[in-house]
Amino acid sequence: MVIKNVSLDIVCGITSVLPENERPELAFAGKSNVGKSSLINALMNRKGLARTSSQPGKTQTINFYNINDALYLVDLPGYGYAKVAKSEKEKWGKLIERYLHGSKQLKAVFLLIDIRHNPSENDKIMYNWIVHNGYNPIIIATKLDKIKRSQVQKHIKMIKEGLQVLDETLVLPFSAQTKQGREEIWNLMERLMEE
Ligand code: GTP
Ligand code: MG
Repeated sequence: MVIKNVSLDIVCGITSVLPENERPELAFAGKSNVGKSSLINALMNRKGLARTSSQPGKTQTINFYNINDALYLVDLPGYGYAKVAKSEKEKWGKLIERYLHGSKQLKAVFLLIDIRHNPSENDKIMYNWIVHNGYNPIIIATKLDKIKRSQVQKHIKMIKEGLQVLDETLVLPFSAQTKQGREEIWNLMERLMEE
């Protein structure tokens, strides 16, 4: 897709009413610090529109990025951030659940996993939650630049086994630093938008 214009259109916090959009939505979920906002910036060709941080817990709202008035990329709050109070975590969990359950325009959910690490308990819960809500999760293995090329297939296998993925689940490696994988993700997103 040729990116003509992008803007952060809607920001939803725990008390917000979720929007009823008319454009297709593609959502990005994953642990805090896994690289959701960095991926969204790379997809949009914008350096800092989605705020990123080396401190986990940066994105605490559901942010809707409008791409060419044609679709929304939806940045979900990260889970598993230890320093957040339990009551806050529960509220974010409810917000994400409300979104996954309620959005009428949501076409697909991408689940981001750090390519270096075994999926966590929370990652497994999230994966199953996405499936439970009727979506076929697409896994993006982030921070591809952090491992040797010869290790990539081994790590993808580790992620597939760790999550006990369905046979049809795709795992796409990606680096926000080198942009490797960006085209493949856009090709897939363009197909999903039309479904
Ligand atoms: P929350 O908003 O806290 O949920 O985090 P997030 O998932 O949005 O992560 P974010 O994009 O803010 O990235 C977290 C950190 O990882 C930042 O320091 C990024 O620069 C770094 N990072 C993200 N993607 C990559 C990548 O592909 N390669 C490398 N080397 N670093 C990355
Ligand atoms: Mg973020």
